[in-house]
Amino acid sequence: MNLLELSDDDLRAHVAAELARTRQRSAGLTDSVDDDDLVRQHSPLMSPLVWDLAHVGSQEELWLVRDVGGAEAIRPDIDDLYDAFQHPRADRPQLPLLGPAEARDYVGTVREKVFDLLARTPLEGRRLVDRAFAFGMIVQHEQQHDETMLATHQLRSGPPALTAEPTPSDVDVLPPEVFVPGGPFTMGTSTEPWALDNERPAHQVHVDDFYLDSTPVTNGRYLAFIEAGGYDDPRWWSEAGWAHRQSAELRAPRFWQLDGDRWLRRRFGHLEPVPEGEPVVHVSFYEAEAYAAWAGKRLPTEQEWEKAARFDPRSGRSRRYPWGDDDPRPEHANLGQRHLQPAPAGAYAAGAAPCGARQLIGDVWEWTASDFLPYPGFSAFPYREYSEVFFGPGYKVLRGGSFGTDRSACRGTFRNWDYPIRRQIFAGFRCARSPRAEERG
Ligand code: AVJ
Ligand code: FE
Repeated sequence: MNLLELSDDDLRAHVAAELARTRQRSAGLTDSVDDDDLVRQHSPLMSPLVWDLAHVGSQEELWLVRDVGGAEAIRPDIDDLYDAFQHPRADRPQLPLLGPAEARDYVGTVREKVFDLLARTPLEGRRLVDRAFAFGMIVQHEQQHDETMLATHQLRSGPPALTAEPTPSDVDVLPPEVFVPGGPFTMGTSTEPWALDNERPAHQVHVDDFYLDSTPVTNGRYLAFIEAGGYDDPRWWSEAGWAHRQSAELRAPRFWQLDGDRWLRRRFGHLEPVPEGEPVVHVSFYEAEAYAAWAGKRLPTEQEWEKAARFDPRSGRSRRYPWGDDDPRPEHANLGQRHLQPAPAGAYAAGAAPCGARQLIGDVWEWTASDFLPYPGFSAFPYREYSEVFFGPGYKVLRGGSFGTDRSACRGTFRNWDYPIRRQIFAGFRCARSPRAEERG
């Protein structure tokens, strides 16, 4: 969808469809478990699902109903409960939260007002509404919380609550690495209408020659690292990574368990053998870094990742996605919870980047070597708490989106970030390396 070319009517229709599609996903994630499950905390890392639901409504009220629409607060009394900065996740179950029925009612009331607003508000004139930005931001916000709720589903015990289609099984055997020649490229964007503040502005970056893995690292390759004693050899780990490996007693990806001499994994309520051809998921940055060192490689920088994903050497320009400028379709990438797992490495021929790398978008978020930092010329918009307060060495950047990421919240420029110890997110990685002496021309 090229939002820049849509007529005003078509833009409004597109926003309405995106809002509706997104709410259906939120409903599926919250209606698939009972009330007791909705209010319970499944892990201290996560909010109760009912908190995410009302928080989505609260942000929608704040930015659309109140800021764009200029209306009074619907429930001024609950603002503070759903302010993520007031209460850490671990404390949220103790708050006097709206119950499941009240939360559903509240998000429905907010949404009715938003549809009214969408019909009458000008989509130009003010930066917040230009090309419907605030509406797009709210769609992405809800989708991001839907992915968080999906991670909560993965953490909950009990029988499966969600269903999905099987992943595509047609895979190609690829060379293990692709070569990306050195030179400048355009990183970030100044033109994508719904890009968030941390993706802006577009700027030129020089990237040296490098090699990148064609696909994310698979369970099979990761198993070789485990079996080679990788978790017990401090040579492969950074100092911080080794300290964490020791204190957290890491020995395999999260949700894996040994059954005799075979590894099983728990996935959305199913216990199953670890599929060797699938990208590894639920590993921390520290584990990714250790694997890469063991393999004689390193993690790609964020610059390298984006160049491999977007740079088209024939035109010299950066694309919106690896396959071009079209929005993601099912044949391009594993996105949007259509499947409840990554697809095997080597799938999605139609989603290949010009350099030949596959599955850069979808399947698993990919840890990069980079700290989460602002681009030159960054300015916070519309609020500092989306990105700016997280900039610094404490967070590592993840790129590309996972099977649980919606297409609206994922593009070649999209940046995600988390603590290097986190494993409940749908994160894996691929490796990179600089040319060896004998490979340099
Ligand atoms: C971009 C995924 C790190 O979930 O903390 C949701 C997105 N920001 N509400 C997060 C977000 C505010 C954010 N991440
Ligand atoms: Fe939020």
